Amino acid sequence: MQIVSFKNYEQLSGYMADFIADSIKNKPDLVLCMASGSTPALTCDLLVQKLKERQVDYSKFTFLGLDEWVGLPPFNTGSCHYFFHKKIFEPLQLSSSQFFLFNALADDLKRECSKMDKVIADKGGIDIMVVGIGMNGHIGFNEPGTSFAALSHVAELDEITKSVGQKYFDEPVELGKGITIGFGQLMNTKKVFLMANGSKKAEVIKKTIEGPVTESFPASIMQNHPHSFIVIDEEAASVLSKN
Ligand code: PGA
Repeated sequence: MQIVSFKNYEQLSGYMADFIADSIKNKPDLVLCMASGSTPALTCDLLVQKLKERQVDYSKFTFLGLDEWVGLPPFNTGSCHYFFHKKIFEPLQLSSSQFFLFNALADDLKRECSKMDKVIADKGGIDIMVVGIGMNGHIGFNEPGTSFAALSHVAELDEITKSVGQKYFDEPVELGKGITIGFGQLMNTKKVFLMANGSKKAEVIKKTIEGPVTESFPASIMQNHPHSFIVIDEEAASVLSKN
């Protein structure tokens, strides 16, 4: 696990966007899996900008959405669908065959999970995964207690996830379950980047890097991955022992 530190959010987002844009340039059929949320928001904007400025051929890469709130329609502005359509798919005018998101309204959610796992297998695995970290240490909707071996699955959301998650919505919503790519897929990903910024993430970043590896603190799985990167700003790094 490598720690990559930056002064602020703008710099860490610029680094991440550069890395992804260069990776697509070098491997046009790259498979990218990304989380939505406040943390990767600027990375998405900068990625679009850099791909266009550098005239990278992005017509062959595949985009996978890490997770979705179960029961939310795709036009809900707090959904991951909405986020990625507005930030990535529409600005890049991606073909619908290039992106895969969970259908959170599907009658058969288990089938949605199998479909996502099959896409990943058919594409030959995920090259780059870019995730955030929740205030309970979750990654995607891999909540505390999730097996490190889990493939895509439906999760009962933790109380912290349900309350912190309200920030994405214009009005209070009832959140119960999430659907997510699992840690078995994260461990099989070639390179995994966990991004965090701001002092509110300082404690969870310390536990991720310095705490025990345990399913009760999901992000600690990053310590087990051979090519994992913790991309943080000064505030998120502020309580690390070696800071
Ligand atoms: P955030 O979400 O990037 O909006 O802080 C992180 C998460 O809960 O996974």
